Amino acid sequence: MGSDLNITKQLQDYILKHGLKLHPVQKEIINYNLKLGNVKRMQISISQCQFLHLIIKVSKIRKVLEIGTFTGLSTLSMALALPDNGEIITLDKDEKTNKIAVNFFKKSRQDHKIKTIIKPALETLVKIRNEKFDLIFIDADKMNYKKYYQISLDLVNNGGLIIIDNVLWHGEVVSKDINNKYTKNIRELNDFISKDTPPLYLFLDNRSIKYLHDCTVFGAGFR
Ligand SMILES: C[S@@+](CC[C@H](N)C(=O)[O-])C[C@H]1O[C@@H](n2cnc3c(N)ncnc32)[C@H](O)[C@@H]1O
Repeated sequence: MGSDLNITKQLQDYILKHGLKLHPVQKEIINYNLKLGNVKRMQISISQCQFLHLIIKVSKIRKVLEIGTFTGLSTLSMALALPDNGEIITLDKDEKTNKIAVNFFKKSRQDHKIKTIIKPALETLVKIRNEKFDLIFIDADKMNYKKYYQISLDLVNNGGLIIIDNVLWHGEVVSKDINNKYTKNIRELNDFISKDTPPLYLFLDNRSIKYLHDCTVFGAGFR
């Protein structure tokens, strides 16, 4: 029944008003991204911020790896949920957006938990191959997703989580008429994961997250 509910703008606003409140710096990042025009679609949604926050709060996650920092919304959402001795290593190749993200991290006083590395992610992943993480969030260039996932299997702790954004690719994964390289690539990734025996992983997509909200699966026991 939950998945039949149409999440209207009005209902979405209601959920945001009654759900976890955003930190002032999270709001600042969202406002900053809004001014970037089309590029703002890069950031995760508010529901995803809340979801990542919840996952960390209700678990013993202490060490996080993120692939795809952009201006820092997802990083900050996770940092805010981590204990004070928690740590996030976040990877991005873009120096300009990294500078902006780092300013936001300082402003929110979460910077002691966050280490940013500016390089093509695959290069960094080789260098940190001896580290282990409780949560790995993949949200960068889609064509490398399978490589990121495979490397993540070695980097994630037993019982850890690998969360991957955009795995329904706006619903295109089930459209027989859509066969561009990006859609095919995400389909291949999902096929690969479904045949694999990984640790625990989750599929995250704006659309499925809306359904999660809708079902209020995570409505209770937040704090
Ligand atoms: C979708 S955005 C990340 C959004 C971010 N998680 C957020 O919520 O704001 C993807 C990011 O991946 C970065 N990226 C793309 N290709 C990359 C690569 N090969 N190595 C590292 N970062 C990369 C881009 O610079 C961009 O900032």
